[in-house]
Amino acid sequence: MKKQCVDNPNDLDWVVFWQDLLKDKENKDWDKAAEGFYKRSKRDDYQNNLLSRLVLSKDDTVLDVGCGEGSITIPIAKKVKSVTGIDSSKKMLEFLNRRAQDNGLDNIQTILRPIEEIRYDEIGDYDVVVASRSLNGIIPIEETIAELNDIANKYVFLTVFGPNDRKLVKDFEASIGNDTNSFPHYNYLFNILFNMGIYPNIERFDLTDTPRYDNIEDVMNNGKFRIDLMSDDEKVKLREYLENAMIKDPETGKLYSKLDTTDWMLFWWKKEKE
Ligand SMILES: C[S@@+](CC[C@H](N)C(=O)[O-])C[C@H]1O[C@@H](n2cnc3c(N)ncnc32)[C@H](O)[C@@H]1O
Repeated sequence: MKKQCVDNPNDLDWVVFWQDLLKDKENKDWDKAAEGFYKRSKRDDYQNNLLSRLVLSKDDTVLDVGCGEGSITIPIAKKVKSVTGIDSSKKMLEFLNRRAQDNGLDNIQTILRPIEEIRYDEIGDYDVVVASRSLNGIIPIEETIAELNDIANKYVFLTVFGPNDRKLVKDFEASIGNDTNSFPHYNYLFNILFNMGIYPNIERFDLTDTPRYDNIEDVMNNGKFRIDLMSDDEKVKLREYLENAMIKDPETGKLYSKLDTTDWMLFWWKKEKE
C-alpha cells in the first residue's frame, strides 16, 4: 500500500504538484508555430466539440484567453456581440486579425499580453471567458484562474489535455531516449479548482477521427511534433520513426496511426452570483 503523506487528501497542495511538473519545461515559441496553426486550423473535430458546448447569447461579450490564430475566436465572434482575444504571440494575433478581415468581422479586439498578466482590475468584466487549449503550461495557475473567474459574469470554459493526448509524440520521444515528462493531468486542475471553491462540470472530447496524412512530411508538420524546435538530427530520427509507425490505408493511400490520438477535457462552470 502506498504511504499517505497527509491525513486529509484535501490538504494536498495540487498547485505545487502542477508547478513542479512545469518548472523545467521550455517555453514554446508560439510565433514560430503561428503559420502552421493558421494553415491547419481544422484538422480534427475539436472546434465543433467545443463550440457546441459553449453557452453564448447574441448580446454576450467574450474574452478568449490564448486565442491563437482564431480558430475558436472567429466562430464565437459570429454568435456574440464582441470578442476580445488575448495572446502573447504577436504572429498569432496577426493571423487572427487577418482572419477577422477575411470573414468581414469587426467585433474582434486583440490584446498582446501573457495570460499570467491578465488582471480583472485592468480589463474589466466579460460575460463569458473561454481559455481553449491555452492553460496547460501556465505556472501561476491558481492566480490566473482566480482572475478569469472574477472577469466572467456568466460562464467560464477551459480546456486542457486529456489522458490520451499526443501518444504518438510520446512514443517517438521515448524511442529516441528523450524525457517524456508530460504536462499535469486534468485531475490536478480539478483538485486545484475544488480547493478554490469552484466545482466545475467536466467533459472529455475523445476525438476519434484519426487524422489522415498525404505523406510523411505532412505527418511531421502536423504541429504535434514541434518540428520548428528540433535539431536536424532529431528530424532525421523522426522521419525514420514515422516511416515505421505510420500505416497506409489501402483504399485511399493515406497515412494514419492508431497512436495519433487527441483528447481534451472541458471544464466549465456557471458563475455564482455574489
Ligand atoms: C494550442 S494554441 C490554442 C489556440 C486557440 N485557443 C485554440 O484552441 O485553437 C495555444 C495558444 O495559447 C497561447 N499561449 C500559450 N501560453 C501563453 C501565455 N503564457 N500567455 C499568452 N498566450 C499564451 C499561444 O500563443 C497560442 O496562441
